[in-house]
Amino acid sequence: MRKKIVAGNWKMNKNFQEGVELAMSIQQRLNNYDGNCLVVLIPPFVHITKIRELIHHPKIKVGGQNCHDKPSGAYTGEVSAEMLNSAGADYVIIGHSERRQYYGETNQLCYAKINQALDNKLIPIYCVGETLEERKMNLTFRVIEQQMREGVLGLDGEDFKNIVIAYEPVWAIGTGLNATKEQAQEVHAFIRQQIENQYSREIAQDTTILYGGSCKPTNAVELFSQPDVDGGLIGGASLNTDDFVNIILANQ
Ligand code: PGA
Repeated sequence: MRKKIVAGNWKMNKNFQEGVELAMSIQQRLNNYDGNCLVVLIPPFVHITKIRELIHHPKIKVGGQNCHDKPSGAYTGEVSAEMLNSAGADYVIIGHSERRQYYGETNQLCYAKINQALDNKLIPIYCVGETLEERKMNLTFRVIEQQMREGVLGLDGEDFKNIVIAYEPVWAIGTGLNATKEQAQEVHAFIRQQIENQYSREIAQDTTILYGGSCKPTNAVELFSQPDVDGGLIGGASLNTDDFVNIILANQ
């Protein structure tokens, strides 16, 4: 059985004290939670060690929002996968559309970052998704196929078993306009088929594929009830304890 996951991508929000407070209040609210959804808190880098130290809940993990594609060296301002691992992170987001859009990250760079993450025992959450223009031009499947092929499907099957995929249509991120459950299911099934074609049915069936883009308590149940949607990567709604916890509870 594949893992169900709800991950909160805080992006560049919450100062240190606010971040610690948010993590603590989520942990507190999940005190009696014994459902089967794994929760990943993904704060800014500087919060990770402290939050990891304060989390004692077996279902809550911590992740980073990005890592560098090289192991170490003269790359001022960057953070390596090994640093994340040694600071207590278990997961790392790779190829978020904001990284692709604002920092020019390519599928090839994502592939190098994924390899760094895996070499350092981090589980990559690899993000794919089409822009509005691409969807309008009926290029959605072509774009996703290329992001998958160039970004992650070059791994061998054993490594791929440690990958989480997030489908995040760029037009849905932070816009309040989520994909419909049919749109999400269609793309998730397509992604799973790509994985099956490259590896095996078993590996495809075991891969967790998250939906991201304006996921909220009000649409989480219908999105997560789709057969190929295994949870969510949550931006805005992960900054509020009630909203985030309600999204977690929606992932049965
Ligand atoms: P959103 O962001 O939930 O605020 O749309 C999702 C994401 O960027 O991961």
